[in-house]
Amino acid sequence: MPLVTTKEMFEKSMKEGFAIGAFNVNNMEIIQGIVDAAAEENSPVILQASSSAIKYARIGYLRKMVEAALEEHDIPIALHLDHGPDYETCKMCIDNGFTSVMIDGSKYDFEENVALTKKVVEYAHSKGVVVEAELGKLAGIEDDVNVEASDAMYTDPAQAEEFVKRTGCDSLAIAIGTSHGAYKFKGDAKLRFDILKEIKEKIPNTPIVLHGASTVIPELVDKCNKYGGQIPGAKGVPDVMLHQASKFGVSKINVDTDLRLAMTSEIRQVLTEDPSVFDPRKYLLPARESVKRTVQHKIRDVFCSSNKA
Ligand code: G3H
Ligand code: 13P
Ligand code: ZN
Repeated sequence: MPLVTTKEMFEKSMKEGFAIGAFNVNNMEIIQGIVDAAAEENSPVILQASSSAIKYARIGYLRKMVEAALEEHDIPIALHLDHGPDYETCKMCIDNGFTSVMIDGSKYDFEENVALTKKVVEYAHSKGVVVEAELGKLAGIEDDVNVEASDAMYTDPAQAEEFVKRTGCDSLAIAIGTSHGAYKFKGDAKLRFDILKEIKEKIPNTPIVLHGASTVIPELVDKCNKYGGQIPGAKGVPDVMLHQASKFGVSKINVDTDLRLAMTSEIRQVLTEDPSVFDPRKYLLPARESVKRTVQHKIRDVFCSSNKA
């Protein structure tokens, strides 16, 4: 099956109450781990690359590795630009075969965000590509965007309605309390499901996206720390909240941090337990398996997209 846009998978997700996992990719092992898991679960999946991932892996390699995944598996796969910082980056990805792009105008004021998003939508739609936009600010660190927790700004439901109407964007990333990275909450985890509900009432036909949605899986954090890592006190969004979000209105859930933990914890264990190892396959193979297990758990037990391909 060729690459698809997110249009059909999102329509199905809104009708049937499940979410699609959007997993960040940087290299071959991560791509393989994700698509092997999605294929085993017969689930649609979104592979997304940030602009720094594209700089790291190089766009041609990413595209060809995703093509290889398509040849191997018969499930709907979308290739998405995560946190597109400007029009030029979005255009470059569209011209290189991405089927979906995010333009992240959340760092701008409302009018500037509208104007930039509209410009990307016009070009993307002329090429059959869909566009995710963002309204509201996530606390924490985004790609090239640094927002202090104190400045965190939830998405305003009325503004969301106006924004979607004026930009014509295909999906909308919202801020309801999540943040990027491994340190999302100081005390108890809390998401504003009341705001999500209001947004869904205002824009019922627009797929909603949740960024910063890693669980920061405690077992993986513990394993990293056990084998020499130093990430004490890391905390993410509990599975039960992500499950609730999947059932009640969120169509796309972004995960990067959990994949980083999955890989790194495994590599740390192998190299610590056997310092004589220097063949990269000895640690990249278990790292790829760990990515697969992590993705499979999310798809099957949390996002509920198994057998929705
Ligand atoms: O939201 C940002 C993603 O985790 C991508 O991070 O820019 O380090 O690739 P990155
Ligand atoms: P996490 O840092 O919670 O994995 O979020 C990833 C993300 O939102 C990518 O856009
Ligand atoms: Zn994000």
